[in-house]
Amino acid sequence: MHNEIDLDQINIHSEPPAEEPARQYYFMAKCRERVKDFTLKHGRVPTSCVVNMGCQMNARDSEKLTGILEEIGYQKTESEEADFVLYNTCTVRENANNKVYGRLGCLNRYRRENPHMLIGLCGCMMQEPAVVEKIKQSYRFVNLIFGTHNLYKFAELLYTVFENTSGGAQKDGHSMTIDIWQDTDKIVEELPVERKYAFKSGVNIMFGCNNFCSYCIVPYVRGRERSRKPEDILQEVRKLAADGVTEVMLLGQNVNSYGKTLEEPYTFARLLRDVAEIDGIERIRFMTSHPKDLSDELIAVMAQSEKICRHLHLPLQSGSSRILSKMNRKYTKEQYLNLVEKVRAAIPDIAITTDIIVGFPGETEEDFKETMDVVCRVKYDSAFTFLYSRRTGTPAAAMENQVPEEIAKERFERLLCKVQQLASQKAMRLEGTVQKVLVEHVNEKVESLVTGRTDNNSVVHLPGDKSMIGKILDVYLKECKGFYYIGEAR
Ligand code: SAH
Ligand code: SF4
Ligand code: F3S
Repeated sequence: MHNEIDLDQINIHSEPPAEEPARQYYFMAKCRERVKDFTLKHGRVPTSCVVNMGCQMNARDSEKLTGILEEIGYQKTESEEADFVLYNTCTVRENANNKVYGRLGCLNRYRRENPHMLIGLCGCMMQEPAVVEKIKQSYRFVNLIFGTHNLYKFAELLYTVFENTSGGAQKDGHSMTIDIWQDTDKIVEELPVERKYAFKSGVNIMFGCNNFCSYCIVPYVRGRERSRKPEDILQEVRKLAADGVTEVMLLGQNVNSYGKTLEEPYTFARLLRDVAEIDGIERIRFMTSHPKDLSDELIAVMAQSEKICRHLHLPLQSGSSRILSKMNRKYTKEQYLNLVEKVRAAIPDIAITTDIIVGFPGETEEDFKETMDVVCRVKYDSAFTFLYSRRTGTPAAAMENQVPEEIAKERFERLLCKVQQLASQKAMRLEGTVQKVLVEHVNEKVESLVTGRTDNNSVVHLPGDKSMIGKILDVYLKECKGFYYIGEAR
């Protein structure tokens, strides 16, 4: 965690500053007083638990929220029986929403046991007015709701919650603190952020999305695309490197369009080159690449730099050009296949992974066969497959010929089977080779093993101990076990 401002230096009895991030540090200092009062009164430090329910962007947001809670003095716990539980929600598919409602029921039971418990909801699902309405009606025990655009205001909002509840204790019929913004172009830098791992970290390079794929709710809940300034990103990576981080994952919904919203034009390829020059950074990953924006310049930079991992996540979504057009993806099957060929010609050992949606409105058996054809030709190292989920407000939700669930499910099973079969054949190719492996943690099941990842993202288990965590080692991959390898350090 890096805190930019010392909370002890802040006069909490003065008026709150107007500018950011000073204003948030002021509220962190005020919240910290409340946490200290709680500790004195109850003889224990209050606990907090941030539950991440979404993608890598959400996971990074959760680290920011946890960073602020740590700064305030909360004790982090994994248990949802904590004094403050915050769900950072996802809404990309309908089942994500249903899970939240189910889990809120459980939280309410814990709350009855613990009168001090506070409950918060944030993230993408909260950007949907119908969701907030439902929570206001049926989950009145929730204390705090905020969205994706004002996450940086978390300390200020939490202080309002403290004010609305007596010293952290729950009052019946209390008012919910709700603050949802529709969009923002504001990016607040230099707030605290949790360092989940000593040796690797995600780094946001941009927020929002302008692509409006017709099935997708993300542009509506994350707002318009905006890029962080290159100097802010590089400064963050330099600090991480100075702190011992060797692997960074650059994050955005479509990293290939990085820089388009900046005053001075800047490309993602150039950013990668600049990050690669930072001493101490050994591995660079990024996510996600939209095929329509993947430039020759980027392929060249990837091919040249040893530090950029040999892994490209290149969502296909569908193999049918007809469906791709209805999805508003702006590439055809042929263009996608040509792109894969170009990438493989430049970087022969690259691992390619993807996302595929089955059952998009109007998808016929013929369209589905086109998807299977691309899968068989590309032979992905792995693929995330999803059943199409109808998201209210997106253009696809209003399209005719929604595919009946049984048909979509049957296609989904066929696709999954093919993807797994091809991926396990593909995995065999590294057997018997020596690869660089970044050791990430001690194996959860066998204590005498450690687990790490190769440059192209394959999982490797090898004999070792915790002293190896964070190191990049040469590892002989003795045996492939389907989706992972057994290796030996050289
Ligand atoms: N920005 C990323 C994707 C973020 S969402 C990209 O463009 O690749 C992650 C994945 O969820 C998408 O790639 C898509 O495959 C899937 N997805 C998005 N909306 C969906 C929906 N309505 N139904 C099913 N899957 C969906
Ligand atoms: Fe959604 Fe498309 Fe944006 Fe990805 S690129 S987040 S799939 S709209
Ligand atoms: Fe979900 Fe929001 Fe990510 S909807 S996939 S958490 S951007």
